[in-house]
Amino acid sequence: MEQQSKQPITYRFPAGFWWGSATSATQMEGAANEGGKGKNIWDHWYEKEPHRFFNGVGPSTTSDFYHRYKEDIALMKEIGHNSFRFSISWSRLIPKGIGEVNPEAVRFYNAVIDELLASGIEPFVNLYHFDMPLALQNIGGWENREVVDAYARYASICFELFGDRVKKWFTHNEPIVPVEGGYLYDFHYPNIVDFRRAVQVAYHTVIAHAKAVAAFRKAAIQGGQIGIILNLTPSYPRSQHPADVKAAHIADLLFNRSFLDPAVKGEYPQDLIELLDEHGFLPVTEAGDRELIKENTIDLLGINYYQPRRVKAKEHLPNPDAPFLPERFFDYYAMPGRKMNPYRGWEIYEKGIYDILINIKENYGNIECFISENGMGVEGEDRFRNENGMIDDDYRIAFIREHLKWVHRAVEEGVNVKGYHLWTFMDNWSWTNAYKNRYGLVAVDLDNGLKRTIKKSGYWFKTVAENNGF
Ligand code: BG6
Repeated sequence: MEQQSKQPITYRFPAGFWWGSATSATQMEGAANEGGKGKNIWDHWYEKEPHRFFNGVGPSTTSDFYHRYKEDIALMKEIGHNSFRFSISWSRLIPKGIGEVNPEAVRFYNAVIDELLASGIEPFVNLYHFDMPLALQNIGGWENREVVDAYARYASICFELFGDRVKKWFTHNEPIVPVEGGYLYDFHYPNIVDFRRAVQVAYHTVIAHAKAVAAFRKAAIQGGQIGIILNLTPSYPRSQHPADVKAAHIADLLFNRSFLDPAVKGEYPQDLIELLDEHGFLPVTEAGDRELIKENTIDLLGINYYQPRRVKAKEHLPNPDAPFLPERFFDYYAMPGRKMNPYRGWEIYEKGIYDILINIKENYGNIECFISENGMGVEGEDRFRNENGMIDDDYRIAFIREHLKWVHRAVEEGVNVKGYHLWTFMDNWSWTNAYKNRYGLVAVDLDNGLKRTIKKSGYWFKTVAENNGF
């Protein structure tokens, strides 16, 4: 491995570039029923319908970071991390979502933050990663404005408890995903298919975000920055035919700009408002919302990128009696010859990461940003274990390297991109896919007491981080 670091550096990144990885509470902490944690929607859904999770594996143990965080942080240090994003579990910190703060959770998150800092790794903390406390889902989750206020209170408590040491904060990870999963496409609890309710959930998430930003400004954390993490899946039209271009524009409005514009520009795109209005789906709003969004834009944008979204104009008239879904406006387009990750079923299109960054530079004031997730989930990685027990994941190294080349080009072209975080540090639990696809730089052996082993990509990533390039 060492000889790689002696190779000449072709792609050098700016000094201080953030190298690290990202994860979320539900996906790695485990201890779901320990330490005073309340239930969240994942604990509940798994209890109700375990068969909907790959191999029937639920969120109770996951990677057991709750107990092994010291060992794990030591490994992060070993593979060159200078930063690491995790999320706080709302239902661990405040078991009912509102009400009492759980002192055991405060101790745990303090210990994690202190251990990271002592290891020279900057903690990036996200407040919400798909994990609504069950008590709040039971009163409607994001559909209920009381939950929005409960979230703003939770955010303030986090700033107060941890803001002396945590300087990079994020309100939500991929807020469109709970809308899609929970209210459109049935892959998250509460498994509702209803466009109107989906729009309301998305809108309230934006209000919750803006209230958290307002709370952050009030907390006046010295040297602190607040942002949001968005999966800015770029929409590519099949062709330049106006109908295809329009289809891609609508997909972009619904899935990307519904969060990007309010978060960065402080207002919704006029085209989106008109589209929703035309079809009678404008959300219920309150006086003062517009100003709240306008006044509380972000400092720092996290960009998650996995795959492009290719669309074309609709080829058949939609069934007017079927539920109204975004696919009223476009069909998905499987581009012939596209490169695929067959395990996850996602196209690999490296240039997409550059297209997003250029869009942010040209249309979003070149706001400070970073790649907050990018990665490749692969099934059956054990077959790549070599005689020393290490997983030779050359495909992952190639995946990262080819994306980083485009990030580098964006840097050269003046994009204000400050770092690259891989999804993820160690193999973790991927929602209904459970442990099907592995994403980590570090393998977690489920059949061997969750033993951690650095993969070849972990050692490669270390040389990249240490050389600040490759
Ligand atoms: C992102 C999420 O969408 O992608 C993660 O922020 C998720 O929570 C990751 O695990 C990989 O996707 P998946 O569905 O394969 O787990």
